[in-house]
Amino acid sequence: MFSSRVPRELAANRLTIAVAAQRAAGRRPPIDLTASNPTRAGFDYPHDLLAPLADPRALAYAPAPFGMRSAREAVARDYARHGLEVPPDRIVLTASTSDAYSMLFKLLADAGDEVLVPRPSYPLFDPLTRLDLVTPRPYDLDIHGGWAIDVGSVERAITPRTRALLIVSPNNPTGSFVTAGELDRLAAICAPRGIAIVADEVFADYELRAGARASAGRVAARADVLSFSLGGLSKSIGLPQAKLGWIAVSGPDALARAALERLEHVCDAYLAVSTPVQVAAPSLLERGAAIRDQIAQRVAVNYATLAAGRDAAPACGVLPADGGWYAVVQVPSLEPEEDLVLRLLATDEVLVHPGYFFDFPRESFLVVSLLPPPAAFADGIARVLRHFDCTARRP
Ligand SMILES: Cc1ncc(COP(=O)(O)O)c(C=O)c1O
Repeated sequence: MFSSRVPRELAANRLTIAVAAQRAAGRRPPIDLTASNPTRAGFDYPHDLLAPLADPRALAYAPAPFGMRSAREAVARDYARHGLEVPPDRIVLTASTSDAYSMLFKLLADAGDEVLVPRPSYPLFDPLTRLDLVTPRPYDLDIHGGWAIDVGSVERAITPRTRALLIVSPNNPTGSFVTAGELDRLAAICAPRGIAIVADEVFADYELRAGARASAGRVAARADVLSFSLGGLSKSIGLPQAKLGWIAVSGPDALARAALERLEHVCDAYLAVSTPVQVAAPSLLERGAAIRDQIAQRVAVNYATLAAGRDAAPACGVLPADGGWYAVVQVPSLEPEEDLVLRLLATDEVLVHPGYFFDFPRESFLVVSLLPPPAAFADGIARVLRHFDCTARRP
């Protein structure tokens, strides 16, 4: 009865089952190093931040496929904060980044067409592409000192059905920005083949290595390849429940205009963005800076804790992260990742993500969120590293 867009098997994975079983048994909750919901991470949100959602102007419904002008102008000012000039009429409001992906897949791809996705990366690419009948084909990020896109693997993954190249900058979970040089090479591959670039820049505000943001390539600045920059309140001001994201369209003028005309048709069919959040957008984007600053400080402090802790556990390596909300720890491969994270949960009472959730090509990697409160983060990381310190010394 059901389509193949939804999974045949809906069973929970072993880790989710183990967490639920611990909870059901009344055990103390583990230290959760997977926690990445900013609204539950102890940040100080101004109590009246959401007051503009009740602005009486939102009582009038005036549907507009790309969203209200005032909100699109506010997003344009947010790009200007990054030194990027994006005309408001090139900005399309969406209900979230996931919503933006879906709109773009509808714009660019027919059923069975392909998009190139980074590996390792964001686990949601699998369901997002499948739900729109698009086939994801991976290209690789390699680590040699720092992460870099294996541009050869991009070229090898291209087929006549490739419609878009997805990049995530900084990437979740590797924390690597796509550099200006990498973007030049990717644009040179994509433009002549009619492949669009979709750049997920939701974490672009969060820099962990000084200078990383400045050396990143930004698609909004490109006139040579049809590109879509994705952002949203979910990460930029830690407000996922506001449900406001956006797409900035750039590229050769005629192509960008043609894309916008068709995107308007897609957005007009859904009109997914609520009027209250559009009315509130200018105020949210302005006042949200206070939350962004707290998040930026938090992730920097926790990353420093992780890097310092690593010195005490030579068996483990903290992979360099340039930005974002996550860090990757490489650990000895003494057992399958899944067994390892289950053991960490059961014996050390700490919850981490296994690397395979993010499609790391080999084992063993653990992914931790940098959002938890610093004391809990330090405790959780100490438990993880202590686990390996002992294991490494076992005969
Ligand atoms: C790379 C990346 N893009 C997008 C999102 C989600 O954004 P949204 O809440 O706007 O759908 C996430 C959330 O973790 C993410 O890691």
